[in-house]
Amino acid sequence: MMNVAVMGYGTIGSGVVEILEENKDIIARQTGDTVNVKYILDLREFPGTPIEKKIVHDFSVIEKDPEVSMVIETMGGLNPAYPFVKASLQAGKHVATSNKALVAAYGTELLKIAEENHVNFLFEASVGGGIPIIRPLYTSLAGEKIEEITGILNGTTNYILTKMDKAGETFEEALSKAQELGYAERNPEADVEGHDTCRKIAILTALASGHEVNYEHIYTEGITNITDVDFRYADALGTSVKLFGSSRISDQGVHAFVAPVMIGKDHPLYSVNDVYNGILVKGNMLGTSMFYGSGAGKLPTASAVVADIIEALKNPGHHVKMGWDGNRLNISAMDSVS
Ligand code: HSE
Repeated sequence: MMNVAVMGYGTIGSGVVEILEENKDIIARQTGDTVNVKYILDLREFPGTPIEKKIVHDFSVIEKDPEVSMVIETMGGLNPAYPFVKASLQAGKHVATSNKALVAAYGTELLKIAEENHVNFLFEASVGGGIPIIRPLYTSLAGEKIEEITGILNGTTNYILTKMDKAGETFEEALSKAQELGYAERNPEADVEGHDTCRKIAILTALASGHEVNYEHIYTEGITNITDVDFRYADALGTSVKLFGSSRISDQGVHAFVAPVMIGKDHPLYSVNDVYNGILVKGNMLGTSMFYGSGAGKLPTASAVVADIIEALKNPGHHVKMGWDGNRLNISAMDSVS
């Protein structure tokens, strides 16, 4: 039996606990083992619920318990997620996280600490919600020199743009629904100003290139300036408005941007609507592949976290090498998208 601790019982954390119970037979079939949620770290108590007895408020209980071999971080933000994740890895525990802010800011360091401690730092859920995209980059596409990644990487903004364009909703109405549906960040500014997309394209670029990417150097523009007029022009031109995160990788460095773009009906991402994300990955041998699916939301995102738990459980004592080092890539703004 593998004992895990879930840090943060919000939308994603509660989804992870739900899937571990609902799909326990599937997990057992693949791993020959079971997963037990021993602790849930949260500020709240949840009296009278099945998780009441698992709740702890003190991280050191988790850190010091040798029975806990994996920590699931679904708190979001950098503090206290960063010190807690770092301490968990240093204590020899695997970590799976859905926290893109954490991975974009400290991925290099946390991967190194994981390697030194012969454990795994896994973050499939940090990009694209439930879409498999992190693991394919270092497994199925490992033989490729990745030249370009372009995607709709934020479910909230894609939902807002779709509802404004096709259902005539206002920005505020659509954002409020995205919040109700559990798509938006606690502070939705991260979504609508493009910061979330920026962190995600930085993570994908680091994995694809093998080098650290300073996301603060990526030109980033969100969707807050998009109005009815933009949609009218887009319609007249037979295009739709999407928030893209894009990077072109070469030996000289990376050209990257996050910005709203108008794309025509022949573009593969044209029909990616609502909360769906779509990601195009161009390799030098394979050509372009497209990854598509639910980019945000409780169960899709939690499903990706559970896949990381299964990966750690299947390969105890094995450190997954992602080939992402601390040499920083040069980033410059890209002026066109193909
Ligand atoms: N707020 C994020 C989004 C959640 O809307 O895409 C998934 O990372």
